[in-house]
Amino acid sequence: MSSNSTDFSHGEDLTLAHRLADAADAITLKRYQALDLTVTTKPDNTPVTDADKSSEEAIRALLHAHRPNDGIVGEEFGSQGLEQNRYWVIDPIDGTKNFVRGVPTWATLIALIERYSDGTQKTIVSVVSAPALFRRWSAHLGGGAFVTINHETTKRIHVSGVSKIEDASISYSDFTGWGSMLEPFKSLLSAAWRTRAYGDFWSHMLVAEGALEVAAEPTLALWDMAALDLIVTEAGGVFSNTSGIPGPHGGNGLSTNAALHSYVVEQLRK
Ligand code: IPD
Ligand code: CA
Ligand code: CA
Repeated sequence: MSSNSTDFSHGEDLTLAHRLADAADAITLKRYQALDLTVTTKPDNTPVTDADKSSEEAIRALLHAHRPNDGIVGEEFGSQGLEQNRYWVIDPIDGTKNFVRGVPTWATLIALIERYSDGTQKTIVSVVSAPALFRRWSAHLGGGAFVTINHETTKRIHVSGVSKIEDASISYSDFTGWGSMLEPFKSLLSAAWRTRAYGDFWSHMLVAEGALEVAAEPTLALWDMAALDLIVTEAGGVFSNTSGIPGPHGGNGLSTNAALHSYVVEQLRK
């Protein structure tokens, strides 16, 4: 079996991404609120559970079986095959602190990135699966963004048309990690119509759904952002880092409804 980029359509890769998410959901849901959940602390002082590890292992096993020539970057088990022109990016549980405490805002993030001969790369398939919220978001490049509710109803999603900060709703995770951007960020919050820290992937998916206009986080890894990037952009929004560099490679993440993007980047630079 080979897996050159030409071998699979985006639709076939998206179907596989849903299968990976199904496998992850079966594991994570079973371990969510389990009394014997094993929680250990990683060297970066963040928690990891047996569910994070088992979820990533299950996804990797399916990828080895179905896309043996693709690379993989996963939060818990590192990177392999990055010389390939396609690689999957996996966050087996985004929101592990929520998972551990019984807060249902956690998700498995799955993305497929393709590299081009000019050195650029693009996320071409994404699934964000939040089974404890009964929601799954998905997209493939050029195909629009969708949310499936309770495994039943799938609907296309779009960002909002709000164009003034005084009418906008902003979400974030918390005030840690902002450094010198904290004061500009707080000023931005005070100019908005509404602010709430919904946190993690959830803020960004709410931007894609048009329920919020801005989601920002100051310190993120590729696996925190790759899946969010495509869903937000396919919903008509913009995903960049806080300096406005598009895509999920910039060390932090800013999703907007597009209309407010340059305004927000400018405010954060102040
Ligand atoms: C965390 C979430 C959170 C962000 C942290 C990440 P994890 O991921 O993405 O929103 O603020 O920096 O580490 O550890 O729960 O996968
Ligand atoms: Ca994460
Ligand atoms: Ca994680």
